[in-house]
Amino acid sequence: MPVDILVGTQWGDEGKGKLIDVLTRDVDVVVRFQGGNNAGHTVEIGKERYVLHLVPSGIFRKGVKCIIGNGLVVDPVALVEEMKGLEERGVDTNQIELSNRAQMIFIYHKMADRLSEAGAKTKIGTTGRGIGPAYTDKMRRIGIRAIELKHPERLAELFRTECAKYNKLFAAAGAETVDVEAELAKVLAAAEKLAPRVCDTVYSLNAAIKANKKVLFEGAQGALLDIDHGTYPFVTSSNTISGGACTGGGVSPRAIRDIWGVIKAYTTRVGEGPFPTELFDASGENLRQRGREFGATTGRPRRCGWFDAVAARYACMVNGINKLAVTKLDVLDDLKQIAVCVGYRINGEVTDEFPASAAELEAAEPVLEYLPGWECDTTGATSYAQLPENAKKYLARMAELVDSSIGIVSVGPRRDQTFSAE
Ligand code: IMP
Repeated sequence: MPVDILVGTQWGDEGKGKLIDVLTRDVDVVVRFQGGNNAGHTVEIGKERYVLHLVPSGIFRKGVKCIIGNGLVVDPVALVEEMKGLEERGVDTNQIELSNRAQMIFIYHKMADRLSEAGAKTKIGTTGRGIGPAYTDKMRRIGIRAIELKHPERLAELFRTECAKYNKLFAAAGAETVDVEAELAKVLAAAEKLAPRVCDTVYSLNAAIKANKKVLFEGAQGALLDIDHGTYPFVTSSNTISGGACTGGGVSPRAIRDIWGVIKAYTTRVGEGPFPTELFDASGENLRQRGREFGATTGRPRRCGWFDAVAARYACMVNGINKLAVTKLDVLDDLKQIAVCVGYRINGEVTDEFPASAAELEAAEPVLEYLPGWECDTTGATSYAQLPENAKKYLARMAELVDSSIGIVSVGPRRDQTFSAE
């Protein structure tokens, strides 16, 4: 019953897509359990580069079932576009199953997302994909679930009702309103394509687990964007941590074996919110350029900074990480010395605990420790043994600081630039 979970341990963009692709070598089922098309998981296979937003990253492996679980918010029009894009490049999308319990994102959610960001005093810097408003509707118990894709008449009625409510709000705010029938036509076209993929994935997933199939849960975003554990309110609207896999997939915590945490050798963040180790100088720009740190979903330049061990240790603790996959080690190749944040100085007091308050984190000054760099190219390394001594020392210090062990190291975007550290 090997059920593993892979999650991000920072603010997303840790390289989860690539790791999932590597870990799915002998997996039977890959499951997305939260979020939506705010995610952008990049997978490079040979010369081909794919960015997945909703489709699980197991899609490039023949025969791997790809489940979009009940915990997601799914934009049906965007999902169809993504599937078509993959099909045009010869990828088989018949492996996809969409949970009948998943919530759907419609145009009005995206419009509400952008409207609320435009008018907000404290901007979150969302992806504008309608994630927050769709989860809000779920919790208010007025959301529309994917099961309705199989019932076009009921779907149309529900869609028109919700549009009417949202249009009143948009009109009152002096904003653009939804062209209901034009948008409904797009939704119904998507429904026709998706209906055969909609099923009760809770049963199919639990049957796979019972049959001893290998299952991998694919987290999106990262622990520091978790609605409970992240830098609230500068977070996404779902539980991104490993616990979310059980609720968002419909499986028991007893089924879980390993919990992989993907962790970048430095730190990045997109959107607003506190980021104690952020670099505003040339070293930050160097990380951005060398690491190609531009959003896979929105193209926004990512904020870059040193590895924050305080935040990462908190993330490893709440996730129960037992294996780390360190990505982008090669981005640090040219540095003479590398800083790591081992504590925060907040109002004169030093702490190694991650504060709950965004205001406190905003005020935190990083307490930095400096490690010598290795100043040589690691992108050709194919085993842990081939890494320079200082790179090994850096990895060992990361593992010690976050209280977890390193299972995989990655030194470049390709499948073959990943090796075991055990
Ligand atoms: P939302 O998920 O679109 O509501 O955005 C909320 C916050 O999460 C913003 O700061 C986004 O930039 C961030 N975010 C959402 N998805 C991702 C992701 O996949 N990677 C990195 N940041 C993300």
